[in-house]
Amino acid sequence: MSTVLAPDPQLDPMVPTLARITRKIDEIPDVVTFEMEADGWSGFAPGQFNMLGPFGVGEIPISLSGPASKRERLVHTIRAVGPVSRALVELQEGAVLGLRGPYGAPWPVERAQGRDVMVVAGGLGLAPVRPVLYDVLENRDDYEKVIVLYGARRPEEMLFADELSTWRARFDIEVAVTVDHASVGWHGHVGVVTSLLRTVGYDPANTTAYVCGPEIMMRFAARALTDAGVAPGEIWLSMERNMHCAIGLCGHCQLGPVFICRDGPVFDWARLRPLMQQEEL
Ligand SMILES: Cc1cc2nc3c(=O)[nH]c(=O)nc-3n(C[C@H](O)[C@H](O)[C@H](O)COP(=O)(O)OP(=O)(O)OC[C@H]3O[C@@H](n4cnc5c(N)ncnc54)[C@H](O)[C@@H]3O)c2cc1C
Ligand code: FES
Repeated sequence: MSTVLAPDPQLDPMVPTLARITRKIDEIPDVVTFEMEADGWSGFAPGQFNMLGPFGVGEIPISLSGPASKRERLVHTIRAVGPVSRALVELQEGAVLGLRGPYGAPWPVERAQGRDVMVVAGGLGLAPVRPVLYDVLENRDDYEKVIVLYGARRPEEMLFADELSTWRARFDIEVAVTVDHASVGWHGHVGVVTSLLRTVGYDPANTTAYVCGPEIMMRFAARALTDAGVAPGEIWLSMERNMHCAIGLCGHCQLGPVFICRDGPVFDWARLRPLMQQEEL
């Protein structure tokens, strides 16, 4: 059972603890992974996030991207898209930053036990859902088929490419990748990630899916999975919204009646679909 972890309730939830970057890995252009250490860090559940704050710049939500079973490991993968994320990505090994968390409802990994596991990720979305794969592969016998469908804009923007190759070489996990735009030397699939659904064999009636990526991609993936026969309550998505407090106080992340920080970020499609339709109106 994924345990929802939370900061010590005795502490002021808005006061960050100090974290230090112990290792910096350049992934793809504008994307880095940090391994960090932080006072009092006691682990997380797959799908949870921390508020990371480079001093004097701001604070943003970033998912944990490492294995949840290694409680001492604090790993984040970050893309520079604006002022705060850019300041984070530019930090070097040894730098100290503020950290609050972990927050949020996790991916319900155990729900897929005895079922086919389908992970559908787009772009940087592979980072927040990677802890699901670590959990599943550590307990491989508990699951039926394990399928990873991953799409990137271009071959050179493929995140965790070495790890995807390692998984691909295993006999007990099926990995299919695609790009929106091929470049010279790419001989793989070209097309949106949902087009990969037709290329893999799974039992829709016995599948639990974990979907993470740009919102438009998640909508299409959820619809395609539903059309294929996967129950909406078995399709799980991780939502992104601007956040300030991350503890259900400020309303910045509100979507209809839910707060993404407190009630999510992970929701099932049965719950999310009507809320997203309202937003489209
Ligand atoms: C629960 C949760 C988990 C997240 N996990 C991660 C993670 O693991 N790694 C990560 O890199 N980011 C993650 N994000 C997104 C991250 O929080 C945002 O990219 C960040 O808040 C941007 O802040 P900024 O000040 O750098 O840029 P802003 O000034 O807020 O944005 C700059 C520009 O980038 C656009 N933008 C904002 N966010 C994104 C985005 N996600 N993708 C593309 N364009 C965007 C904005 O529309 C704006 O045009 C997560 C968000 C949430 C809510
Ligand atoms: S970020 Fe404040 S309520 Fe969610």
